[in-house]
Amino acid sequence: MAQTSSTLPRILVVGCGSIGERHLRCFQATKRCKVEVCDANATLLHTVAERYAVKAQPDFAAALKSSRYDALVICTPAQTHLLIARQGAEHGAALLIEKPLSTSLDGVEETRCAIERSGRHVAVAYVYHVFPWILAAQEFVKTGALGRVLHATLCAGQHFPTFRPAYRDIYYAKRETGGGCIQDAITHAMNAMEWLLGPATRVFCDASHQMLEGVTVEDTVNLSVRHDNVLVSYAMNQFQTPNELAFTLHGEKGSLSVEHHHRRWGTMMRGETEWSWRTTPPLERDDLFIAQANAFLDGMDGMEGKPSPLCTFEEGVQTLKFNLAALRSMDSGLPVTIS
Ligand SMILES: NC(=O)c1ccc[n+]([C@@H]2O[C@H](COP(=O)([O-])OP(=O)(O)OC[C@H]3O[C@@H](n4cnc5c(N)ncnc54)[C@H](O)[C@@H]3O)[C@@H](O)[C@H]2O)c1
Repeated sequence: MAQTSSTLPRILVVGCGSIGERHLRCFQATKRCKVEVCDANATLLHTVAERYAVKAQPDFAAALKSSRYDALVICTPAQTHLLIARQGAEHGAALLIEKPLSTSLDGVEETRCAIERSGRHVAVAYVYHVFPWILAAQEFVKTGALGRVLHATLCAGQHFPTFRPAYRDIYYAKRETGGGCIQDAITHAMNAMEWLLGPATRVFCDASHQMLEGVTVEDTVNLSVRHDNVLVSYAMNQFQTPNELAFTLHGEKGSLSVEHHHRRWGTMMRGETEWSWRTTPPLERDDLFIAQANAFLDGMDGMEGKPSPLCTFEEGVQTLKFNLAALRSMDSGLPVTIS
């Protein structure tokens, strides 16, 4: 039965900066929910609320008191995510929490308990989980067709100032607010690799500030990581001209490669000499976030026993540990074991 606008789930987007505005637009585009927006910056809040003709909530605590929300989409800087998530869980709302889950492990346990009490659907917005070429690669790896995966390499980069000209003035400029390449950028790839290969168990990180003007956080990262018995090397910088991300997994029976910038994934199995590529037709960036919004709404509806493709809270905690271990290794110059 079609839902009327008064019976659609009510979603509050908390923080309507760069990604919050995108989530607002993409949740609206699903036509499966009614969206409102909250931001501590009153000028921004009213501009965005007017642009999308949605209700503006200037005070988060007051909004939770006066209204009933079915879900929160948490799009504030990382160090605020867990507190807002706890308040949302206590309100009884489902939660879509932007990455990274936080900047420390403080408050993880309390948030986990609040989520368990609420019993609501929770996901972390590591959006690579809905990129068709990564989702299909993940499904292929899980079939076991590659045999045991033993080795992997990942190489990524982009000219960050082109994509985020304000990088000096936002959370990116400071580690404490989730800034730097590890917590802000390569964390997407670290999470995706954990999804494909299992949790990282040991990391050695060499990273430094190489080029971006006006900040001192690391913009270039090399990681040598063990995901248990899989050896993985990661490399990323945020100043190169090509906007590219590619990784290859090598297993006992063949190899699998993903080229994000070509929207494709492929395999070369033992005995073959050419890659077999599967390519997704061109799509808009919003299409990926609409897919994520739909997957989250599906999770809220219950998946009839099927697992959601989205990153779970526990997977988000694991990638947070991976981020923190990489930062510790960068600071100490030593490998760090992840418990
Ligand atoms: N998945 C992605 O592709 C992606 C892309 C960009 C950012 N992000 C993540 O999303 C988060 C936000 O990033 P952004 O680029 O949108 O940042 P931003 O600085 O553009 O926006 C953050 C907004 O949150 C508001 N805010 C801060 N504290 C608040 C509070 N307590 N209550 C209400 N509003 C509050 C600020 O006023 C600001 O408008 C970060 O964790 C970032 O890592 C994810």
